[in-house]
Amino acid sequence: GKSGYDHYMLKEIHEQPTAIRKCLRERVSELEGTIDVDALADLEHDGPVQFVACGTSYHAALYGAKLLRERGVPAQCFLASEYEVDAIPAIEETLVVGVTQSGETADTMSALRAANQIGAMTLALTNVVGSSAARECDHVMYIRAGPEIGVAATKTFASQQVALAMLSSVLSGEGSMEFVERLRDLPDQIQKVLDESNARDIADAYEGSDAYFFIGRGYNAPVALEGALKMKEISYEHAEGFAAGELKHGPLALVTDQTPVFAVIAGDTNVSKTLGNVKEVEARGAPVVAVTDSPEQVGQYADHVLEVPSAGPLLTPILANIQLQLVSYWVANRMGRSIDKPRNLAKSVTVE
Ligand code: F6R
Repeated sequence: GKSGYDHYMLKEIHEQPTAIRKCLRERVSELEGTIDVDALADLEHDGPVQFVACGTSYHAALYGAKLLRERGVPAQCFLASEYEVDAIPAIEETLVVGVTQSGETADTMSALRAANQIGAMTLALTNVVGSSAARECDHVMYIRAGPEIGVAATKTFASQQVALAMLSSVLSGEGSMEFVERLRDLPDQIQKVLDESNARDIADAYEGSDAYFFIGRGYNAPVALEGALKMKEISYEHAEGFAAGELKHGPLALVTDQTPVFAVIAGDTNVSKTLGNVKEVEARGAPVVAVTDSPEQVGQYADHVLEVPSAGPLLTPILANIQLQLVSYWVANRMGRSIDKPRNLAKSVTVE
Protein backbone atom coordinates (compact mmCIF):
# COMPACT_ATOMS: atom_id res chain seq x y z
CA GLY A 1 0.00 0.00 0.00
CA LYS A 2 0.83 3.67 -0.02
CA SER A 3 1.43 3.82 3.77
CA GLY A 4 -0.74 6.91 4.15
CA TYR A 5 0.78 8.83 1.24
CA ASP A 6 -1.54 10.01 -1.54
CA HIS A 7 0.71 8.56 -4.20
CA TYR A 8 3.37 5.90 -4.54
CA MET A 9 5.65 8.57 -5.94
CA LEU A 10 5.54 10.60 -2.72
CA LYS A 11 5.99 7.44 -0.64
CA GLU A 12 9.00 6.43 -2.73
CA ILE A 13 10.52 9.91 -2.50
CA HIS A 14 10.30 9.52 1.28
CA GLU A 15 11.82 6.05 1.16
CA GLN A 16 15.11 7.43 -0.13
CA PRO A 17 16.96 7.52 3.21
CA THR A 18 16.15 3.82 3.72
CA ALA A 19 16.96 2.94 0.13
CA ILE A 20 20.39 4.56 0.39
CA ARG A 21 21.14 2.85 3.70
CA LYS A 22 20.36 -0.49 2.05
CA CYS A 23 22.48 0.36 -0.97
CA LEU A 24 25.48 1.13 1.26
CA ARG A 25 25.09 -1.76 3.71
CA GLU A 26 28.19 -3.96 3.98
CA ARG A 27 29.75 -2.15 1.07
CA VAL A 28 31.42 0.74 2.86
CA SER A 29 33.69 0.26 5.83
CA GLU A 30 33.82 3.24 8.13
CA LEU A 31 36.64 1.67 10.10
CA GLU A 32 38.92 1.25 7.13
CA GLY A 33 37.58 4.09 5.01
CA THR A 34 37.22 1.62 2.15
CA ILE A 35 34.52 0.71 -0.33
CA ASP A 36 34.19 -2.96 -1.23
CA VAL A 37 31.38 -4.38 -3.28
CA ASP A 38 31.25 -8.18 -2.95
CA ALA A 39 29.54 -8.58 -6.28
CA LEU A 40 32.46 -6.81 -7.98
CA ALA A 41 35.21 -8.75 -6.21
CA ASP A 42 36.04 -10.76 -9.33
CA LEU A 43 35.71 -7.83 -11.73
CA GLU A 44 39.23 -7.07 -12.87
CA HIS A 45 39.31 -4.17 -15.24
CA ASP A 46 41.60 -1.31 -16.03
CA GLY A 47 40.37 -0.30 -19.47
CA PRO A 48 37.78 2.24 -20.57
CA VAL A 49 34.21 2.22 -19.32
CA GLN A 50 31.06 2.89 -21.34
CA PHE A 51 27.60 3.35 -19.89
CA VAL A 52 24.42 2.51 -21.78
CA ALA A 53 21.02 3.56 -20.42
CA CYS A 54 17.71 5.31 -21.14
CA GLY A 55 15.74 8.12 -19.53
CA THR A 56 16.36 8.70 -15.86
CA SER A 57 18.89 5.88 -15.79
CA TYR A 58 20.80 7.72 -18.52
CA HIS A 59 20.99 10.76 -16.27
CA ALA A 60 22.41 8.58 -13.49
CA ALA A 61 24.90 7.19 -16.00
CA LEU A 62 26.00 10.70 -17.02
CA TYR A 63 26.76 11.32 -13.37
CA GLY A 64 28.63 8.00 -13.08
CA ALA A 65 30.77 8.76 -16.13
CA LYS A 66 31.74 12.14 -14.66
CA LEU A 67 32.76 10.48 -11.38
CA LEU A 68 34.94 7.96 -13.18
CA ARG A 69 36.64 10.57 -15.35
CA GLU A 70 37.39 12.73 -12.32
CA ARG A 71 39.03 9.67 -10.78
CA GLY A 72 41.16 9.02 -13.82
CA VAL A 73 39.15 6.29 -15.55
CA PRO A 74 38.21 7.05 -19.17
CA ALA A 75 34.42 6.83 -19.26
CA GLN A 76 31.70 7.70 -21.75
CA CYS A 77 27.96 7.61 -21.64
CA PHE A 78 25.59 6.55 -24.43
CA LEU A 79 21.85 6.56 -24.91
CA ALA A 80 21.17 2.84 -25.28
CA SER A 81 18.94 3.44 -28.31
CA GLU A 82 21.85 5.12 -30.13
CA TYR A 83 24.58 2.70 -29.10
CA GLU A 84 24.53 0.39 -32.10
CA VAL A 85 23.01 2.71 -34.67
CA ASP A 86 26.44 3.37 -36.13
CA ALA A 87 29.56 1.31 -35.42
CA ILE A 88 29.45 0.01 -31.86
CA PRO A 89 31.94 2.13 -29.90
CA ALA A 90 33.17 -0.62 -27.55
CA ILE A 91 36.33 -2.65 -28.03
CA GLU A 92 37.18 -5.91 -26.25
CA GLU A 93 38.95 -4.03 -23.46
CA THR A 94 35.86 -1.95 -22.68
CA LEU A 95 33.69 -2.53 -19.66
CA VAL A 96 30.12 -1.79 -20.75
CA VAL A 97 27.80 -0.94 -17.86
CA GLY A 98 24.04 -1.13 -18.39
CA VAL A 99 22.27 1.14 -15.92
CA THR A 100 18.68 -0.09 -15.80
CA GLN A 101 16.34 -0.08 -12.83
CA SER A 102 13.99 -2.71 -14.24
CA GLY A 103 16.68 -4.71 -15.99
CA GLU A 104 14.20 -5.19 -18.86
CA THR A 105 14.48 -2.06 -21.02
CA ALA A 106 14.70 -3.29 -24.61
CA ASP A 107 17.16 -0.68 -25.88
CA THR A 108 19.51 -1.24 -22.97
CA MET A 109 19.29 -5.02 -23.35
CA SER A 110 20.06 -4.74 -27.04
CA ALA A 111 23.14 -2.57 -26.37
CA LEU A 112 24.38 -5.01 -23.72
CA ARG A 113 23.92 -7.97 -26.09
CA ALA A 114 25.88 -6.14 -28.78
CA ALA A 115 28.67 -5.47 -26.28
CA ASN A 116 28.76 -9.13 -25.25
CA GLN A 117 28.88 -10.15 -28.89
CA ILE A 118 32.06 -8.22 -29.59
CA GLY A 119 33.65 -9.71 -26.47
CA ALA A 120 33.54 -6.69 -24.17
CA MET A 121 33.01 -7.23 -20.47
CA THR A 122 29.52 -6.30 -19.25
CA LEU A 123 28.07 -5.21 -15.93
CA ALA A 124 24.41 -4.71 -15.05
CA LEU A 125 23.55 -2.06 -12.47
CA THR A 126 19.96 -2.93 -11.70
CA ASN A 127 17.27 -3.06 -9.04
CA VAL A 128 15.67 -6.34 -10.04
CA VAL A 129 17.23 -9.62 -8.99
CA GLY A 130 17.29 -12.13 -11.83
CA SER A 131 16.18 -9.55 -14.42
CA SER A 132 17.16 -9.91 -18.09
CA ALA A 133 20.07 -7.49 -17.66
CA ALA A 134 21.30 -9.38 -14.58
CA ARG A 135 21.26 -12.61 -16.58
CA GLU A 136 22.80 -11.14 -19.74
CA CYS A 137 25.85 -9.53 -18.13
CA ASP A 138 29.14 -10.98 -16.88
CA HIS A 139 28.72 -9.09 -13.60
CA VAL A 140 25.82 -7.56 -11.71
CA MET A 141 25.60 -5.00 -8.94
CA TYR A 142 22.21 -4.50 -7.32
CA ILE A 143 21.12 -1.03 -6.28
CA ARG A 144 18.77 -2.43 -3.56
CA ALA A 145 16.18 0.37 -3.78
CA GLY A 146 13.25 -1.97 -3.14
CA PRO A 147 10.24 -2.16 -5.47
CA GLU A 148 9.28 1.10 -7.20
CA ILE A 149 5.61 1.28 -8.21
CA GLY A 150 5.36 4.89 -9.44
CA VAL A 151 6.16 5.15 -13.13
CA ALA A 152 8.40 8.14 -12.42
CA ALA A 153 11.75 6.89 -11.16
CA THR A 154 12.69 8.55 -7.86
CA LYS A 155 14.33 6.37 -5.22
CA THR A 156 15.89 4.17 -7.88
CA PHE A 157 17.66 7.24 -9.33
CA ALA A 158 19.19 8.14 -5.96
CA SER A 159 20.19 4.50 -5.44
CA GLN A 160 21.76 4.38 -8.89
CA GLN A 161 23.76 7.51 -8.11
CA VAL A 162 25.04 6.06 -4.84
CA ALA A 163 25.81 2.68 -6.45
CA LEU A 164 27.71 4.52 -9.19
CA ALA A 165 29.65 6.47 -6.57
CA MET A 166 30.72 3.15 -5.05
CA LEU A 167 31.44 1.63 -8.46
CA SER A 168 33.67 4.57 -9.35
CA SER A 169 35.68 4.00 -6.16
CA VAL A 170 36.02 0.29 -6.89
CA LEU A 171 37.12 0.80 -10.50
CA SER A 172 39.49 3.68 -9.82
CA GLY A 173 40.85 2.37 -6.52
CA GLU A 174 40.17 5.87 -5.18
CA GLY A 175 38.07 6.45 -2.13
CA SER A 176 38.91 8.27 1.02
CA MET A 177 37.78 8.21 4.63
CA GLU A 178 36.16 11.56 3.89
CA PHE A 179 34.16 10.13 0.98
CA VAL A 180 33.06 7.12 3.02
CA GLU A 181 31.91 9.43 5.80
CA ARG A 182 30.02 11.58 3.34
CA LEU A 183 28.26 8.50 1.95
CA ARG A 184 27.40 7.39 5.47
CA ASP A 185 25.90 10.80 6.28
CA LEU A 186 23.85 10.98 3.09
CA PRO A 187 20.67 9.19 4.34
CA ASP A 188 20.33 11.62 7.28
CA GLN A 189 20.91 14.56 4.99
CA ILE A 190 18.22 13.29 2.61
CA GLN A 191 15.90 13.02 5.61
CA LYS A 192 16.65 16.63 6.48
CA VAL A 193 15.77 17.73 2.95
CA LEU A 194 12.49 15.80 3.15
CA ASP A 195 11.63 17.20 6.58
CA GLU A 196 12.43 20.83 5.80
CA SER A 197 11.66 21.22 2.10
CA ASN A 198 9.74 24.28 0.94
CA ALA A 199 9.22 22.70 -2.50
CA ARG A 200 5.46 22.83 -2.10
CA ASP A 201 5.55 26.63 -1.73
CA ILE A 202 7.68 26.89 -4.86
CA ALA A 203 5.18 24.71 -6.72
CA ASP A 204 2.36 26.97 -5.52
CA ALA A 205 4.24 30.05 -6.66
CA TYR A 206 5.05 28.82 -10.18
CA GLU A 207 2.30 26.41 -11.21
CA GLY A 208 0.79 27.67 -14.45
CA SER A 209 4.07 28.94 -15.89
CA ASP A 210 4.65 28.78 -19.65
CA ALA A 211 7.62 26.43 -19.18
CA TYR A 212 10.14 25.31 -16.58
CA PHE A 213 13.88 25.39 -17.21
CA PHE A 214 16.60 23.68 -15.24
CA ILE A 215 20.30 24.47 -15.46
CA GLY A 216 23.40 23.05 -13.78
CA ARG A 217 27.11 22.63 -14.41
CA GLY A 218 29.38 19.62 -13.87
CA TYR A 219 27.80 17.10 -11.50
CA ASN A 220 24.73 19.33 -11.41
CA ALA A 221 24.14 19.08 -15.18
CA PRO A 222 22.58 15.59 -15.02
CA VAL A 223 20.41 16.83 -12.13
CA ALA A 224 19.13 19.65 -14.35
CA LEU A 225 18.22 17.13 -17.06
CA GLU A 226 16.53 14.86 -14.54
CA GLY A 227 14.63 17.76 -12.95
CA ALA A 228 13.14 18.60 -16.34
CA LEU A 229 12.32 14.98 -17.22
CA LYS A 230 10.46 14.49 -13.94
CA MET A 231 8.54 17.73 -14.42
CA LYS A 232 7.43 16.90 -17.96
CA GLU A 233 6.50 13.31 -17.30
CA ILE A 234 4.18 13.89 -14.34
CA SER A 235 2.91 17.46 -14.85
CA TYR A 236 2.68 17.31 -18.70
CA GLU A 237 4.14 20.82 -18.72
CA HIS A 238 6.94 21.97 -20.98
CA ALA A 239 10.24 21.57 -19.19
CA GLU A 240 13.83 21.53 -20.43
CA GLY A 241 17.12 20.91 -18.74
CA PHE A 242 20.45 22.26 -19.96
CA ALA A 243 24.09 22.26 -19.05
CA ALA A 244 24.23 25.82 -17.78
CA GLY A 245 26.80 26.94 -20.35
CA GLU A 246 24.54 25.91 -23.25
CA LEU A 247 21.83 28.39 -22.34
CA LYS A 248 23.25 31.25 -24.37
CA HIS A 249 23.64 29.03 -27.44
CA GLY A 250 19.93 28.93 -28.20
CA PRO A 251 17.61 28.12 -25.30
CA LEU A 252 17.92 31.67 -23.92
CA ALA A 253 15.49 32.70 -26.67
CA LEU A 254 12.76 30.82 -24.80
CA VAL A 255 13.36 32.55 -21.47
CA THR A 256 10.74 35.11 -20.38
CA ASP A 257 9.20 36.37 -17.15
CA GLN A 258 6.79 33.41 -17.43
CA THR A 259 9.49 30.73 -17.40
CA PRO A 260 10.99 30.04 -13.99
CA VAL A 261 14.59 28.82 -14.12
CA PHE A 262 15.78 26.32 -11.52
CA ALA A 263 19.52 26.82 -11.09
CA VAL A 264 21.17 23.82 -9.47
CA ILE A 265 24.25 25.14 -7.68
CA ALA A 266 24.91 22.33 -5.22
CA GLY A 267 28.42 21.47 -4.04
CA ASP A 268 29.34 23.46 -7.12
CA THR A 269 33.01 24.15 -7.75
CA ASN A 270 32.11 26.67 -10.48
CA VAL A 271 29.65 28.85 -8.63
CA SER A 272 30.66 32.09 -10.28
CA LYS A 273 30.25 30.65 -13.78
CA THR A 274 26.79 29.32 -13.04
CA LEU A 275 25.86 32.61 -11.37
CA GLY A 276 26.85 34.24 -14.65
CA ASN A 277 24.21 32.10 -16.36
CA VAL A 278 21.70 33.02 -13.66
CA LYS A 279 22.30 36.70 -14.38
CA GLU A 280 21.65 36.06 -18.09
CA VAL A 281 18.17 34.71 -17.38
CA GLU A 282 17.41 37.37 -14.81
CA ALA A 283 18.17 40.03 -17.38
CA ARG A 284 15.26 38.50 -19.38
CA GLY A 285 12.98 38.79 -16.36
CA ALA A 286 12.87 35.08 -15.51
CA PRO A 287 12.18 34.14 -11.91
CA VAL A 288 15.10 32.15 -10.50
CA VAL A 289 14.92 29.33 -7.97
CA ALA A 290 18.35 28.37 -6.68
CA VAL A 291 18.79 24.81 -5.45
CA THR A 292 21.87 25.18 -3.35
CA ASP A 293 23.94 24.43 -0.27
CA SER A 294 25.40 27.97 -0.39
CA PRO A 295 22.41 30.29 0.10
CA GLU A 296 24.67 32.99 1.54
CA GLN A 297 26.60 33.15 -1.73
CA VAL A 298 23.79 32.44 -4.17
CA GLY A 299 20.60 33.58 -2.46
CA GLN A 300 20.94 37.25 -3.39
CA TYR A 301 20.67 36.32 -7.08
CA ALA A 302 17.56 34.18 -6.66
CA ASP A 303 13.87 34.85 -6.08
CA HIS A 304 13.60 31.66 -4.05
CA VAL A 305 16.01 29.17 -2.54
CA LEU A 306 15.57 25.43 -2.13
CA GLU A 307 18.29 24.72 0.38
CA VAL A 308 20.17 21.45 0.79
CA PRO A 309 22.89 20.44 3.26
CA SER A 310 26.48 20.30 2.02
CA ALA A 311 27.77 16.87 1.10
CA GLY A 312 30.78 17.90 -0.98
CA PRO A 313 31.00 18.35 -4.75
CA LEU A 314 30.21 14.73 -5.63
CA LEU A 315 27.19 14.05 -3.43
CA THR A 316 25.41 17.39 -2.87
CA PRO A 317 23.79 17.11 -6.34
CA ILE A 318 21.98 13.97 -5.10
CA LEU A 319 20.34 16.12 -2.41
CA ALA A 320 19.46 18.85 -4.90
CA ASN A 321 17.65 16.30 -7.06
CA ILE A 322 15.38 15.40 -4.15
CA GLN A 323 14.19 19.01 -3.91
CA LEU A 324 13.38 18.92 -7.64
CA GLN A 325 11.47 15.62 -7.29
CA LEU A 326 9.30 17.35 -4.70
CA VAL A 327 8.73 20.44 -6.87
CA SER A 328 7.54 18.25 -9.76
CA TYR A 329 5.36 16.21 -7.45
CA TRP A 330 3.63 19.28 -6.02
CA VAL A 331 3.17 20.98 -9.41
CA ALA A 332 1.58 17.77 -10.79
CA ASN A 333 -0.47 17.37 -7.63
CA ARG A 334 -1.87 20.92 -7.90
CA MET A 335 -2.73 20.27 -11.53
CA GLY A 336 -4.57 17.06 -10.63
CA ARG A 337 -2.40 14.85 -12.84
CA SER A 338 -2.29 11.08 -12.74
CA ILE A 339 0.98 11.07 -10.87
CA ASP A 340 1.67 7.37 -10.41
CA LYS A 341 0.61 6.43 -13.94
CA PRO A 342 1.25 9.37 -16.26
CA ARG A 343 -0.48 9.25 -19.62
CA ASN A 344 1.36 7.44 -22.44
CA LEU A 345 4.08 6.05 -20.16
CA ALA A 346 4.87 2.55 -18.89
CA LYS A 347 7.10 1.52 -16.01
CA SER A 348 9.07 -0.92 -18.09
CA VAL A 349 9.74 -0.23 -21.77
CA THR A 350 10.21 -3.60 -23.44
CA VAL A 351 9.99 -2.47 -27.07
CA GLU A 352 12.74 -0.73 -29.05
C1 F6R B 1 11.53 8.26 -15.89
C2 F6R B 1 11.72 6.83 -16.08
C3 F6R B 1 12.29 6.35 -17.37
C4 F6R B 1 13.25 5.19 -17.11
C5 F6R B 1 13.71 4.56 -18.43
C6 F6R B 1 14.72 3.44 -18.20
O1 F6R B 1 11.05 8.55 -14.62
O2 F6R B 1 11.42 6.07 -15.20
O3 F6R B 1 12.92 7.37 -18.06
O4 F6R B 1 14.34 5.65 -16.38
O5 F6R B 1 12.59 4.04 -19.11
O6 F6R B 1 14.21 2.45 -17.39
P1 F6R B 1 15.14 1.38 -16.72
O7 F6R B 1 15.98 2.05 -15.68
O8 F6R B 1 14.22 0.36 -16.12
O9 F6R B 1 16.00 0.79 -17.80
